[in-house]
Amino acid sequence: MAESRTIGIFGAGWVGLVTGGCFAELGHQVIVRDVVPERIDALETGRMPFHEPGLPEVLERNRARIRYTLDARELTEADALFICVQTPPTYSGDADLSYVWTALDDLPRVERRQVLVMKSTVPVGTGEKVRAALEGRGLINVGYVSNPEFLSEGRAVQDFLDPDRIVIGAFADEDASAVEALYGGIETPVVRTDVASAEMIKLAANAFLMTRISFINEIANVCEAVGADVVEVARGIGYDHRLGPHFLRAGIGYGGSCFPKDSLALKQLASNSGYHFQLLAAVIEVNELQKRRVIQKLQKHIGKLRGKKVALLGLAFKAGTDDLREAPSLVLASRLLAEGAEVRAWDPVARPGELMKGAVLYDTVLEAVRGADAAVIVTEWDELRGLASKDVHEAMARPLIIDGRNLLDPAQARAAGFAYEGIGRPTSPTEVLPETHERDLEAELNR
Ligand code: UGA
Repeated sequence: MAESRTIGIFGAGWVGLVTGGCFAELGHQVIVRDVVPERIDALETGRMPFHEPGLPEVLERNRARIRYTLDARELTEADALFICVQTPPTYSGDADLSYVWTALDDLPRVERRQVLVMKSTVPVGTGEKVRAALEGRGLINVGYVSNPEFLSEGRAVQDFLDPDRIVIGAFADEDASAVEALYGGIETPVVRTDVASAEMIKLAANAFLMTRISFINEIANVCEAVGADVVEVARGIGYDHRLGPHFLRAGIGYGGSCFPKDSLALKQLASNSGYHFQLLAAVIEVNELQKRRVIQKLQKHIGKLRGKKVALLGLAFKAGTDDLREAPSLVLASRLLAEGAEVRAWDPVARPGELMKGAVLYDTVLEAVRGADAAVIVTEWDELRGLASKDVHEAMARPLIIDGRNLLDPAQARAAGFAYEGIGRPTSPTEVLPETHERDLEAELNR
């Protein structure tokens, strides 16, 4: 168990609350500061601003150790101050650090040593700039540490409390040791390094994960052309201990609040330094194209999309979250609407509202697929594993499933009477469904 310290958190967003809740779970006193009064009110009354499994329980269990406030002066008591604010992309694709600078403006002045810890994802070189800014303001007793987060949405609490590694980049050894001590009780390798390398570890880890996804998506596209099954291919690759099985699920492209933003930020960081990061540029482009491939698959089966009813099943960028940031569902919906299709949508938790203007949201999968010409699995929700059912078959106008996540067993779906197409899996030409008007014409001629 770690020796109990007081930890201040700037930002009651997803990273801030997971970090605060988990540090409280480790026995520390935590003060979470945000600038939005409604958010602080909600947290004080136990209401969660987003969906993250296990987090409400952690916050509730440690209620006595966590305080929420609007007032940065309350952070004076803290031994370590974690910056957990957003770093959204700017117009140029660089990371916008304005929330980080605002947090610095609000730093309390204290006599004893405090460590400022950067959890937010920032460009390499930010630590140097922050250190210079701290010195410029006479805050010489404030140390600086880069301690990036490797939390994935939907399993963030587990990722925090049982991480693969903890990365600590510091200018001074005493600051690194102070931050390492906060994680006491967690058994995992600790990578102690310089600040710039710690910043790069975060960006490079995400870029590598994205590279794996775009790689397997391209292999999937080739599989479709040559008649191989990418699920089998990934299984065969994954047993190689040098490669491992993770992040080899082909699909409709990555989304979320991190990958798209971080890939752009790293690409721009390289460009700003005069280097063209070709591989990363290709990874990003492959991902953009991948989101659109579903449209071609639909057209292949049902022809022109004008007037067709398409059910988008799952809207969140992945299962286990209600996050719609950069979700492939948004690109799909707007492409379908632009083609004149009628978009019917379902998700167990995500509520797109204005983001998916023009689409109609249904409460159940069955309602969403009623009368539909096609059902597209967009998010790998467990609720969709039984999609190839008799009820769904009866409800749909055409029994066509495009499985953007390779969630279903193709043989079972076909045995249940569906035309089925996954990503990177063989399809039989007999599955091409005639357009409704062609069927009507055929019926007319046969009369
Ligand atoms: C990601 C990283 O996994 C975390 O380690 C990192 O800390 C986080 O970004 C961040 O920078 O904060 P997250 O965005 O929550 O976490 O989601 P992932 O589970 O990594 O999935 C990202 C996207 O890749 C999703 O759209 C997912 O569907 C897609 N994906 C993932 C695939 O298409 N195929 C795969 O094999 C794996």
